[in-house]
Amino acid sequence: MNNATSISDFDFIRELVRRHAAIVLEADKDYLIETRLTPLARRAGFASLAALIASLRTGSVANSLCEQVIEAIVTHETSFFRDIYPFEALKGLILPELLERRQSSSLTIWCAACSSGQEPFSVAMLVREHFPAARNRVRIIATDLSGAILARARTGIYSQIEVNRGLPAMLLTKYFQKQGLQWRIRPEIRQMVEFQQSNLAEPWPPIPPLDIVFIRNVLIYLDLEVRKTILSKIRGILKPDGYLFLGSSETTLNLDAGYEPVSIGKSVCYKLR
Ligand SMILES: C[S@@+](CC[C@H](N)C(=O)[O-])C[C@H]1O[C@@H](n2cnc3c(N)ncnc32)[C@H](O)[C@@H]1O
Repeated sequence: MNNATSISDFDFIRELVRRHAAIVLEADKDYLIETRLTPLARRAGFASLAALIASLRTGSVANSLCEQVIEAIVTHETSFFRDIYPFEALKGLILPELLERRQSSSLTIWCAACSSGQEPFSVAMLVREHFPAARNRVRIIATDLSGAILARARTGIYSQIEVNRGLPAMLLTKYFQKQGLQWRIRPEIRQMVEFQQSNLAEPWPPIPPLDIVFIRNVLIYLDLEVRKTILSKIRGILKPDGYLFLGSSETTLNLDAGYEPVSIGKSVCYKLR
């Protein structure tokens, strides 16, 4: 068997990832396919990446191997309080305004593509810290495509390097317990987040009307038409006075005219027109 990965092998992986997750891998990302899938090929007992792809092409391999390929390709980069400004907007304006408007009813926040959980847990800590009386009125739903990353998120366990990124020392000591070399988030924060597996490119599970949506640093990876569909579906479930947050390099511009950008402090978020 030829052990070299061919151009058509890369094309096959690109197509597989686009079909299953709507993730677009440009031709200049072949190095990424090679570096991320070669260790997987080895772990799964294949002689080479080419052998793994040959096996995927036959369609006879277990679905789980296909999922592992997608998991290996996907970028899970995240951190606590990433890009800080959206969290400052939540604290300074959005949560006070919406909690006041909703009176005693609850508020639902969706973190779509939540990766290993730092984003929804940051929201949960912010609520607990600054709006303690409202903590039982805030529902945080966190979803991701990847079952493996959600399994990690559900544990609420983070390495020293992960807690060093973006998490103020005061919140670390208050809301985490040391466990060996790692840190486990305390149950009162863990319990505030409901994790659920969901592929944004496939039909969504029932989602209640939303007050706030965080869908950050995922649309950039997705097919243009899928991005448009996702933004349009969010419009359908975002409450008329709700807020949408995208990643700092993402925008609704040229994708969906139904949103208007709003600056709050140093953050830009989106409201329905
Ligand atoms: C770069 S991380 C962003 C995490 C977090 N939102 C943040 O901004 O820090 C992107 C996440 O999107 C998820 N993802 C990629 N494609 C997806 C899809 N089609 N549906 C749902 N999640 C997806 C990945 O599994 C990954 O955890």
